[in-house]
Amino acid sequence: MFKHIVDNDIELRLVDIHHAGEMFKSIDSNREHLGKYLPWVDSTETVEDTISFIKNSKKKYAANDGFDASIWYKGEFAGVIGFHGINPSIKEISIGYWLDENYVGKGIMTKACIEFINYAFTIYNLNRVVIRCAEDNLKSRAIPERLGFTKEGIIRDGELLKDGYVNCVIYGMLRKEWNRGY
Ligand SMILES: CC(C)(COP(=O)(O)OP(=O)(O)OC[C@H]1O[C@@H](n2cnc3c(N)ncnc32)[C@H](O)[C@@H]1OP(=O)(O)O)[C@@H](O)C(=O)NCCC(=O)NCCS
Repeated sequence: MFKHIVDNDIELRLVDIHHAGEMFKSIDSNREHLGKYLPWVDSTETVEDTISFIKNSKKKYAANDGFDASIWYKGEFAGVIGFHGINPSIKEISIGYWLDENYVGKGIMTKACIEFINYAFTIYNLNRVVIRCAEDNLKSRAIPERLGFTKEGIIRDGELLKDGYVNCVIYGMLRKEWNRGY
């Protein structure tokens, strides 16, 4: 099973059915925090829905089309980071993420993103990593900005969230620009 130590406190593990209980509990107790920007939160009603997500994620991994990892902080479940589908024609991949509110403000996701970006450029051998954020999601936008991504543009009504359409900011990092690799 994929397991990656980030530092003394943070570990990434390929999502697994064994994590479904902890993952669902975190989603269920963070509905307000997560639901504003993640459209799947309201439809995640029982642990069976989380199990379906994990099964689909494993299929994605088996098809070599990205994967999702659970994030563990000091041994406790803290959130999820994932690759969305690879676009092979331009060697591009996109990263999405969420943290349980108890673990916000510690730099956990910025560090997890560094690991994923390194993976995209070295193991997947891709050329572009993209992070898409709702325009008013300043905490999410701060991550690519902190990591030196370029703000490439805004897709008007680029995301449909529960309060309606929102503009979506696209951040991109090219392999030749990335200077935080191994
Ligand atoms: C988006 C989200 C993951 C950001 O979480 P976050 O904790 O702000 O991000 P990080 O883990 O990278 O932590 C950065 C914060 O820790 C602080 N920090 C502490 N140590 C740090 C370190 N070593 N490195 C970087 N930041 C550090 C930063 O100053 C920053 O705090 P600030 O916002 O008060 O300035 C979180 O808000 C979330 O899950 N939101 C709901 C779901 C969501 O919106 N997902 C994204 C959809 S696009």
